[in-house]
Amino acid sequence: MKKRLAIIIALLMLVLAVAGCGGGEKKADAPKVLKVGTNPDFAPFEFQEKDKKEFSGFDMDLIRALGKQAGYDVQINSLAFDGLLPALMSNNIDVAISGMTITPARAEKVLFSDPYYKSGLSIIVKNDNNAVKSVKDLEGKKIAVQIGTSSAMAAKKIANATVREFNTVSDIFVELRNGGVDAAINDLPVNQYYIKQMPNSGLKITGDLLAAEDYGIAFAKSNSEAQKKINAAMAELKKNGEYDKIYEKWFGKQIK
Ligand code: ARG
Repeated sequence: MKKRLAIIIALLMLVLAVAGCGGGEKKADAPKVLKVGTNPDFAPFEFQEKDKKEFSGFDMDLIRALGKQAGYDVQINSLAFDGLLPALMSNNIDVAISGMTITPARAEKVLFSDPYYKSGLSIIVKNDNNAVKSVKDLEGKKIAVQIGTSSAMAAKKIANATVREFNTVSDIFVELRNGGVDAAINDLPVNQYYIKQMPNSGLKITGDLLAAEDYGIAFAKSNSEAQKKINAAMAELKKNGEYDKIYEKWFGKQIK
């Protein structure tokens, strides 16, 4: 009898112990995961460095710092650039940070944070190309761009140009170096970084800025909560010097 009781008690204790292990209860202080989407082929904003597990770049450091400030656990996912807005709109990710230009067309579909970086578009050609000095000179030419970008939009406005759209920015540089196109249009800081890192690329930037642009972090229309938190965090990082530190790490001293 005693033995039986002991067994029952032991079993009960086991059941309770197992139940206790179940993930049922959530720790009140567990940070909420912030699912971030980016297209990490856009140095110095987001890219994969050799022998590094985590993505590198200005955007990557910034979103980690913003997430930390806002109390999120940041998880970064690699996506196609033209898949970022659909991923936001279907709630597969919470935010997109990807050197993304704030445009009126995009702002109809998603929310943007306050602008966090001043950028613009530029033309890049082979060193020996002296024919292209402005957008006007691109009329009737073959131009490489990344699909879904503001560069693609700009290129499509050029009269008689053949616009070749590629999945990644690496692809457009390769195509240009191989002579498959006459020029590429892409964000100026990315072109500058590429030429600096690859002094033998045989490529150069030509002409003036096609357009001045601001980068913003994007959220689903339904997620104004995250937008508010990230904007508040951004204001704090700008005040406490953290933003400047990250900026200087990737671009050198800021001209204010
Ligand atoms: N700023 C441009 C745009 O928003 C290009 C961004 C491309 N970003 C990237 N990670 N490939 O359209």
